[in-house]
Amino acid sequence: MNQTSARAPVEIYTRTARALHWTTVALLAVQFPVGLYMVYRGSSLNLWDTVTNVLYSGHKLAGMTILIIVLWRLVYRTTRGVPAHEPTIEPWQRIVSRLNHWGLYALLIAAPIAGYIGISLFPALDFFGLFSLPAVVAPDKEAAKTVFDVHRILVLLLALLIAMHVGAALYHYLVRKDNVLGRMIPRLLRWR
Ligand code: HEM
Ligand code: HEM
Repeated sequence: MNQTSARAPVEIYTRTARALHWTTVALLAVQFPVGLYMVYRGSSLNLWDTVTNVLYSGHKLAGMTILIIVLWRLVYRTTRGVPAHEPTIEPWQRIVSRLNHWGLYALLIAAPIAGYIGISLFPALDFFGLFSLPAVVAPDKEAAKTVFDVHRILVLLLALLIAMHVGAALYHYLVRKDNVLGRMIPRLLRWR
């Protein structure tokens, strides 16, 4: 990294953008293991007790919350803009990072929507026995199976993009030693 670029000012994500990013990360950190474990209890062990039902309700609630936060994030991004790229990164890295971010946004919208359509078709719209979401399509058990397969593929793709994203963030911080991670965690900024 040369001296000119090292002195170039770094724009960081706003407090709100960072809060939305890290809330999504925290919800996803719960959503993946809960999704896998509830399907294991329900489909593999055929154990439909209170625990399984609570896990399903929690998964549906966290998933719909992720959808709302991501839509909020996109509205915020469109109206408030985003910081300019970290000044030292190469043009090809800008392109790959943009593709990765838009892929993440697309999957963070498509996967929960597939989940919602799936629970409408099944139907399994109840949350903790407390409230239900309105169905978006008429019940059809066969179609529900297909839509849940789509949901599984979408979350698998999401996991792949997240792995690339986290790998890139660590590469920037540990190997390239630039300020990319500092844009999301300001106390890790190396220069301003
Ligand atoms: C980004 C958000 C979401 C993620 C990361 C996610 C992740 C997962 C994962 C990892 C599984 C287990 C897949 C398997 O082993 O077959 C799963 C299954 C499931 N998810 Fe989600 N999910 C999300 C959103 C939602 C939403 C919003 C709903 C419904 C409102 C939902 C409903 C379901 C249901 C009903 C299953 C079980 C499907 C089956 O029995 O095959 N998910 N999800
Ligand atoms: C686990 C799920 C994660 C998702 C879904 C996710 C999603 C995103 C998205 C969509 C953006 C683009 C923000 C925008 O410009 O609109 C972003 C930016 C960023 N994320 Fe994540 N993220 C995740 C985890 C992480 C983790 C664990 C780290 C750190 C190790 C991280 C570090 C960053 C950084 C540094 C940026 C800014 C990149 C830049 O400067 O252009 N993310 N993230």
